[in-house]
Amino acid sequence: MKKNISIKIFSVGIALFVGLFTIVFMNSCAPTKAVAAKTGVQLWSENCQRCHNTPSPTTFSPEIWETVGMHMQTRALLTEAEREKIVEFLKSSR
Ligand code: HEC
Repeated sequence: MKKNISIKIFSVGIALFVGLFTIVFMNSCAPTKAVAAKTGVQLWSENCQRCHNTPSPTTFSPEIWETVGMHMQTRALLTEAEREKIVEFLKSSR
């Protein structure tokens, strides 16, 4: 009898843990509110100068900016949404 109760408590514990883990994990994949609110200009000025001078939007053609965006997304560990915003800005401000 006593054993049954501790098994029940154990199962509830596991269920709570799995549930909590799922919630935390799912949330970590969604962009944070801070990132979602940032514009392409902000992301460009904050990220691109971490490793080299921030390239001016006039440096390349829109087609080349697409390619640069892909390459720098892997270098700078940007999310898909961040890259899209930055490339959109670089293409539109020339
Ligand atoms: C983690 C470091 C890092 C970050 C952050 C970074 N880059 Fe780069 N970038 C590099 C390195 C390293 C190179 C040299 C080329 C290579 O990677 O093969 C480079 C090269 C480039 C080049 C080619 C330069 C040239 O004149 O040929 C462009 C354009 C560029 N980056 C744009 C960007 C933009 C736009 C961002 C912001 C979204 C960015 N980079 C963020 C590391 C970074």
